[in-house]
Amino acid sequence: MRHLIDILQLTPEEIDELVAKATDIINHPAAYAHKCDGKILATLFFEPSTRTRLSFESAMLSLGGQVLGFSEAASSSAAKGESVADTVRTVSCYSDIIAMRHPKEGAPLVAAMHSLVPVINAGDGGHNHPTQTLTDLLTIHNEKGRFDHLTVGFCGDLKFGRTVHSLISAMSRYEGTRVVLVSPEELKLPSYVKTEALKKNNIEYIQTTDLSSVMPELDILYMTRVQRERFFNEEDYLRLKDSYILTPDKLTNAKPDLSILHPLPRVNEISVAVDKDPRACYFKQVRYGRYIRMALIMKLLGID
Ligand code: NCD
Repeated sequence: MRHLIDILQLTPEEIDELVAKATDIINHPAAYAHKCDGKILATLFFEPSTRTRLSFESAMLSLGGQVLGFSEAASSSAAKGESVADTVRTVSCYSDIIAMRHPKEGAPLVAAMHSLVPVINAGDGGHNHPTQTLTDLLTIHNEKGRFDHLTVGFCGDLKFGRTVHSLISAMSRYEGTRVVLVSPEELKLPSYVKTEALKKNNIEYIQTTDLSSVMPELDILYMTRVQRERFFNEEDYLRLKDSYILTPDKLTNAKPDLSILHPLPRVNEISVAVDKDPRACYFKQVRYGRYIRMALIMKLLGID
C-alpha cells in the first residue's frame, strides 16, 4: 500500500507517468468514467479549502467512484478530542482512499501510519502540499513542454507557503533548474528547505526582496498569498500582507513567454488586471488539478 505524504515519494519517472495519464484523461475522459466504480474517497479536511477538496471530490466522481467526508474539524469528532490516529482508523473502515488536510505539520504522516487504506496529504500546516505540486507540474509541463532548464521565481510567503516547499523539492530534481526566492526578510524560505532541496541538489539560487530586478530572468513566476492563519500576531500579517502586488506594469520587463502560476486563493497579490495577460496561467492551473488527482487516485488504488 502506498501513501502520498511528500512529493519526493514519487520518482521523476512516476511524475512523468502521472502527467501522461492526466493528459490522456483530458483527451479521453469517457474512457475513465468507470475506473473507480464502487470505490469511496474520504476527504478529511481540518482546515478550509475550496480547490483541493472539491477537485479531489470531482476527480473521484469523474472516475465513477463516490465521496464522503467533512470539511471542518468542528463537524468531526476532533471537536470532542479524538486523535488523528483514531479518526483515521475509523474512516479507513468506510473508504478505499483518504485525502487529509490538517493544520499540524506531520498529521497526514501519522494518519498514514494508522490507516488501512492509502492516505494523501492534502496540505499539512506550513509544511507540504504534494498534490498542489502535481497540479503545478502538469501546468509547467503543458506551458513549457519540459521540467528541466527553467528559472523559477517564488514570490510572497516562502516561510509558511507549503506549496512553495513542495514545488521547490520537486523542481530541485531536474537538471538546470534555477530558483529565485523573492520575499520580505521575515518570510524567507526555511533553512531546512534550502538544505534538503536546493543545497543537496546543487541548485543555483538567489534570494532577494526585489521582484522587479529579477523579473526579466524568470521562465515561471509562482506567486503566493501571505498565509495569515500561520501568523502569531495580526500586526505582522497586516504589515507584510501587501509586500508584493503583481500589476500589469510590473510585467513590462518580463519574458514574453513567462508563465505566471498561483496555487490560489488569491487575496491581493495579483491584481485582477493581470488575469487578461496571456501569461497568466493560474486558472488553467485550477483545471489541471482535477485531472492530475484522477491520475493519482488511480495509481494509489492500483487501477490502470
Ligand atoms: C494553497 C494551500 O492550501 O496551501 N491552496 C491550495 O491548496 N490551492 C495555497 C494557499 O492557501 O495559499
